[in-house]
Amino acid sequence: MQDGGGFDPAALVAERRARAAERWNLDRGVVLAPAGLMLPIAGTDQFHEYHAHPEHRYLAGVGQPGGVLAFDAGEGWTLFVPQPDAAERVWTGDGPSLAAVGEAAGLEARPASELGAWLERRRGEPLAIIANDDITLRATEYGVESWAGLEFATDEEESERLRTVVAELRRAKDPRELALMREAAAATHRGHVAGIRKARAGMSERALQIEIEVEFFRAGAERTAYGSIVGGGPNAATLHFSPTAREFGEGELILVDAGAEIGGYASDVTRTYPVGTRFEGIQRDLYELVLGVQGRAIDRARPGVEYRDLHLAASVETAQGLIDLGLLRGEAEGLVERDAQALFFPHGLGHMLGLATHDAGGCLEGRVPSERPTLRYLRADLPLQPGYVVTIEPGVYFIRALLEDPDLRRRYRDDVDWERVDGLLDFGGIRIEDDVLITEEGAEVLSAATPKSLEALEELRREGLGA
Ligand code: GLY
Ligand code: MN
Ligand code: MN
Repeated sequence: MQDGGGFDPAALVAERRARAAERWNLDRGVVLAPAGLMLPIAGTDQFHEYHAHPEHRYLAGVGQPGGVLAFDAGEGWTLFVPQPDAAERVWTGDGPSLAAVGEAAGLEARPASELGAWLERRRGEPLAIIANDDITLRATEYGVESWAGLEFATDEEESERLRTVVAELRRAKDPRELALMREAAAATHRGHVAGIRKARAGMSERALQIEIEVEFFRAGAERTAYGSIVGGGPNAATLHFSPTAREFGEGELILVDAGAEIGGYASDVTRTYPVGTRFEGIQRDLYELVLGVQGRAIDRARPGVEYRDLHLAASVETAQGLIDLGLLRGEAEGLVERDAQALFFPHGLGHMLGLATHDAGGCLEGRVPSERPTLRYLRADLPLQPGYVVTIEPGVYFIRALLEDPDLRRRYRDDVDWERVDGLLDFGGIRIEDDVLITEEGAEVLSAATPKSLEALEELRREGLGA
């Protein structure tokens, strides 16, 4: 079946499975890729919002709770999907038919009640588990009567090898995935623009979150890709701040990090803007600093460039900007070698994006993650390739947990103008985040439509406030 974008989604998913099987190169044995089970909410007959494991969803093309994509080295792929019993049909409905799930996956789907017998016929075979490995602990909920009776010994090392192959495949997005990511970015754009227009002094973080998310959903979002982060004033210094009833005050900045999800694909966009109509004083200086760092990182993004190098260049530029503003002292490279800028920019430049907000990143084989404050939260250490989507999201924050830490104040005694910094402890923070597709020649910003220049933001704020 062709969808509106001219792709055959089921055929694209079948190609992913074929590539995985080829790269796995197994002579014998079984691989299970469970989607994960629903998590009940205590005191209700309902469940937490469900998110299928991205490895399952990538290879199956669907993400039914309790689904298991199974692979036999000799016979290939089978998808098992739970079928609701009469009581479940009464309370939660029939759900999609087996035929519909199978059509979307490009496979014949079987009821989950047949998984036990399928496994029984392969008793004692080598077994690898990828995606959600809860199946060994919660086998009955997957429709398998007794896991122990099947005498499988899961090969952890092999499971890791297969997972690494899938992570590598997931990095470069296919045309269908990119179409969904563009839709997600478009819905996110609508939400952010509504937020930039509607924010005002006296409005709560929660109220702004609602205004933004309602537009995501109106524009086709199925969920938010992650819990929306909305922080006003000092709250913007908490990297993953959950919006509260706190009201925005005159003169503050608002940081909104929020993204729509469509067809399982995330967008992840951050904008920071004033409660009033202008960035004032140090707000303006720091905003220009972060915007410059972000723009140059995007300009440098292209195939073959190491993401880690983009991050390190952004770290040096942030350090230089903070020196220029009199907050850090010394020489930028030396400060980054000592991780001094990480007091103000304590996260990575970003991460891969796709079926998960923090998608299949990690270190290229043979590389070891660094524990240095500058590199600890860099979620991808690999060369960029066409088709990868990464976020580029530098920031500067005044975080009390770091800046009031006596050990850190001692260590960076001479590197920081502590008197100035102490005067900014309620500043909050600035982050600017876009979703960037690496193309053959360079990069395309999927979230480019969402305004971020000082002038565009201030104009939207004036329009929003009728000023
Ligand atoms: N929205 C979470 C992040 O930017 O990583
Ligand atoms: Mn992000
Ligand atoms: Mn984000």
